[in-house]
Amino acid sequence: MSAIGRGSHAPASDTPGGSQPWSSSLMAWQVLSLLSLATSAFFEESTYQTTDSTVLSLSYNQLAGTIPDEISNLSKLKILSVAGNNITGVIPPWVGNLSHLSELSVGTNNLGGGIPEELSRLARLEVLGLEDNMLLGIIPASLYNLSSLQVLSAEANQLQGSLPSDIGIRLPDLRSIYLGSNKLGGPIPASLSNASRLSIINIPDNAFTGFMPTDLGRLKYLSELFLDRNRIEADNVHGWEFLTSLKNCSYLKRLVMLDNKLGGVLPTSIANLSTQLEYLVMASNQISGSIPSGIKNLVNLKALGMFENLLTGTIPEGVGNLRQLRRLGLFNNRFTGFIPSSLGNLTQLITLDLYVNGLQGPIPPSLGNLRQLQVLDLSQNNLSGNVITQPAQTKKKKNR
Ligand SMILES: *[C@@H]1O[C@H](CO)[C@@H](O)[C@H](O)[C@H]1NC(C)=O
Ligand SMILES: *[C@@H]1O[C@H](CO)[C@@H](O)[C@H](O)[C@H]1NC(C)=O
Ligand SMILES: *[C@@H]1O[C@H](CO)[C@@H](O)[C@H](O)[C@H]1NC(C)=O
Ligand SMILES: *[C@@H]1O[C@H](CO)[C@@H](O)[C@H](O)[C@H]1NC(C)=O
Ligand SMILES: *[C@@H]1O[C@H](CO)[C@@H](O)[C@H](O)[C@H]1NC(C)=O
Ligand SMILES: *[C@@H]1O[C@H](CO)[C@@H](O)[C@H](O)[C@H]1NC(C)=O
Ligand SMILES: *[C@@H]1O[C@H](CO)[C@@H](O)[C@H](O)[C@H]1NC(C)=O
Ligand SMILES: *[C@@H]1O[C@H](CO)[C@@H](O)[C@H](O)[C@H]1NC(C)=O
Ligand SMILES: *[C@@H]1O[C@H](CO)[C@@H](O)[C@H](O)[C@H]1NC(C)=O
Repeated sequence: MSAIGRGSHAPASDTPGGSQPWSSSLMAWQVLSLLSLATSAFFEESTYQTTDSTVLSLSYNQLAGTIPDEISNLSKLKILSVAGNNITGVIPPWVGNLSHLSELSVGTNNLGGGIPEELSRLARLEVLGLEDNMLLGIIPASLYNLSSLQVLSAEANQLQGSLPSDIGIRLPDLRSIYLGSNKLGGPIPASLSNASRLSIINIPDNAFTGFMPTDLGRLKYLSELFLDRNRIEADNVHGWEFLTSLKNCSYLKRLVMLDNKLGGVLPTSIANLSTQLEYLVMASNQISGSIPSGIKNLVNLKALGMFENLLTGTIPEGVGNLRQLRRLGLFNNRFTGFIPSSLGNLTQLITLDLYVNGLQGPIPPSLGNLRQLQVLDLSQNNLSGNVITQPAQTKKKKNR
């Protein structure tokens, strides 16, 4: 399931080995003039009168060295992107002087050091891409003064600290926030639901704690909520309100909270989540009780991952209604009763993992209809009777 956890907003990088030198200014300018990257003024004026350039994009090459200081003279730049190279050094403080910038993308490089305070002077910045570097320290408090910011991407660094409680008020235009794979902690700020256009909250692999904000459902454009591998809590009294509130998020496609500290019983309001939902993964928590029968409403689910919890009761018959399911993972729980024969309707299913439960009775012959199935693992249950009478078209059957 881990492949679901990472944002896919960056273009796929395909960088073969062998970086080209980019540190010498001479090389830098040769590279610059080879690429169609600037306004026509950049080319018309043959010398270094390049200050009218508004776009400089060198992303997804094999450039090495540090970010050349010459760029500091391109004072009209609106877009500066050097993402997806092999650039070292730091983000130079002079970037804060490029006051026209609306996009700064330096992601997927080898940049170190901290995020310079000076970036908070880029009052027109809409896209800030810092992801996949080796950036250290905290996200400077002043950065949350960039009130035009729409995309904040800094995942896969070594950033620490917590998110300010008023983040959603100070960044009212935020659409996407990617901060996964850092060392961030503290609570998920309730004010996120004040950023009314927010669509992607992608902050897995951190140490966020506490209960989820109760009214995330005010984010009517919310489509992805990735919070896997954090320390989010819930019990029978508190912590599940957010799920109920998400019923208003009609674009919700992915809800992934694998490996947190969610306990208590799943609310029946799960039945009211958007029918657009494709990924529902709440595995590796301490959720008890049964899966609400209303799960049958989520007819576009492609992955349902509830494994490694304390779930009891039977597997709802209605799971057979989820015709788009590719992956059904309910292993390592305490399910009892029969395997519903309706699972034989899930003809798209690729993996069916029900191992380590208390399931009993016969294996339903209908499972023989699952022609796409590559992994069928029913081991360590209390199943009896004959092995599937109608031969399953499985390529691989695991047996533990
Ligand atoms: C990037 O640079 C580092 C150190 O300068 C070097 O070891 C590495 O091979 C380079 N990677 C690529 C893909 O060029
Ligand atoms: C910026 O431009 C000025 C004037 O053309 C020049 O003197 C200076 O060296 C340039 N700075 C950098 C870092 O290239
Ligand atoms: C930014 O510009 C100001 C004024 O033009 C200048 O004093 C300052 O040194 C510049 N900062 C950097 C980091 O280059
Ligand atoms: C944010 O901007 C306000 C007003 O422009 C200023 O007073 C405040 O000091 C800034 N905050 C930070 C943390 O820079
Ligand atoms: C933020 O949302 C809350 C409701 O959750 C509301 O009471 C508050 O006024 C909002 N704040 C701002 C600054 O819009
Ligand atoms: C959900 O929508 C209903 C009707 O549009 C509204 O009354 C309710 O306040 C909304 N709930 C949340 C949590 O935003
Ligand atoms: C689903 O939403 C409807 C309408 O808002 C409500 O009547 C119903 O009780 C909800 N169902 C659950 C299981 O929460
Ligand atoms: C779904 O599965 C059940 C139980 O195997 C079966 O009775 C039913 O006809 C199936 N529905 C469809 C539409 O195939
Ligand atoms: C397994 O099934 C047998 C016979 O039906 C029953 O006696 C036993 O308690 C079951 N064991 C578990 C762990 O459910």
